[in-house]
Amino acid sequence: LVFAASAHTQAAWPAKAVTLVVPFAAGGPTDVVARTLAASMSKTLGQTVVVENKLGAGGTVAAGSVAKSPPDGYTFFIHHNGMATSTALYRKLSYDPLNDFEFVSQAVDVPMTMLARKDFPAANLQEMVAYIKANKDKINVATAGLGAVSQLCGMLFQRAIGVQLTEVPFQGTAPAMNALLGGQVDVLCDQTTQTIPQIKAGNVKLYGVTTKNRIKSLPNAPTLAEQGLKDFEVVVWHGIYAPKGTPKPIIERMNAAVRAALKDPDVAKRMEDLGAEIVPDSKLSPEGLQSWLKSEIDKWGPIIKAGGKFAD
Ligand code: MLT
Repeated sequence: LVFAASAHTQAAWPAKAVTLVVPFAAGGPTDVVARTLAASMSKTLGQTVVVENKLGAGGTVAAGSVAKSPPDGYTFFIHHNGMATSTALYRKLSYDPLNDFEFVSQAVDVPMTMLARKDFPAANLQEMVAYIKANKDKINVATAGLGAVSQLCGMLFQRAIGVQLTEVPFQGTAPAMNALLGGQVDVLCDQTTQTIPQIKAGNVKLYGVTTKNRIKSLPNAPTLAEQGLKDFEVVVWHGIYAPKGTPKPIIERMNAAVRAALKDPDVAKRMEDLGAEIVPDSKLSPEGLQSWLKSEIDKWGPIIKAGGKFAD
C-alpha cells in the first residue's frame, strides 16, 4: 500500500507549482538564467516553475534552506560555482553540498566581465591597474558576498595585481550593478548574463573578459589573460539541485525538463544574446553534475585557502 501510494504521488507529479530557489537578488545573473529556464520548463512540466529569491551570505542561506526543505519534488535550487567555493570560504556551513542534495543537471556556462564605473579614469586594463595601484585606499570593489562569483573574480583580480581593496558586499550583483551605475562603487566583475546590456548601452567601462579565449557576444573585448594577467580564468557554471531524498523519478522528469528547455529555440537565443553557453550533453546528467561539483571543490579549495579570506 505504501509503495502504491508513493508510486501514485510520483505519477501525479507535479500536482502544483514547483519552486526554483535562486540564492541572489532578482534581476541579477543567476535570476536571469533561472527565469529563462523556468518559463520553458513550466511548459514541459504542465505546472508553473516559480522562481523564489532567497538572499544572504553569498548564496549559503538559500543552500542551507533548500537542504532542509522536504524532499517532495516541489523545491529545487539553482546555484553556480558558489556551491563549491563556499566549502573553502566558510568555516562552518549548515549543509554539505555533496551529501545533502540530489543532483539534477548543469545548464549553461557564463563568462564574466571586468567593469568599472562609467567615469573611471582609465582607458584600458593597463591604465586601470596603474590607477588602482596608485589609489588603492580609495578604490572599492562591489561583490555579492563570500560565495559569489563576483567576489571570487574580484579576489583573484586583487591577487593578480597585488593589491587589497575594500570589498562592498551586496545580496546579488543586481544591486551591485545599480551601485556601479550610480557611481557609489568603482569596480565590479560580473557575469555577461547581466552585464552585456549595460556594456552595449555604454553605461559601464569594460576592461576585459575572464575566459581563456575571447567570446562571440563581445568579440572586441580582450581577455584579461591576453592583457597580461597570466592564466586568469573564471567561468561560471550552473547546477540544479533538490533536497536529498527527492524521489529519483522526479529528478529524472526535472532533468528531462531542463534538457528540453535548453533545446527550446527561445531559450537558446536568449542565452546566446547574453553570452551564456549551453553545456554539452555529458554535463547534463545528474552524475555529470555530481562529479563536476566534486572536481570544482577540489579545484577551488586550495586557491581560495591561499587567499586567507574566510567567514564563520
Ligand atoms: C547574482 O545572481 O547576483 C550573481 O550570480 C552573484 C554572484 O555570484 O556574483
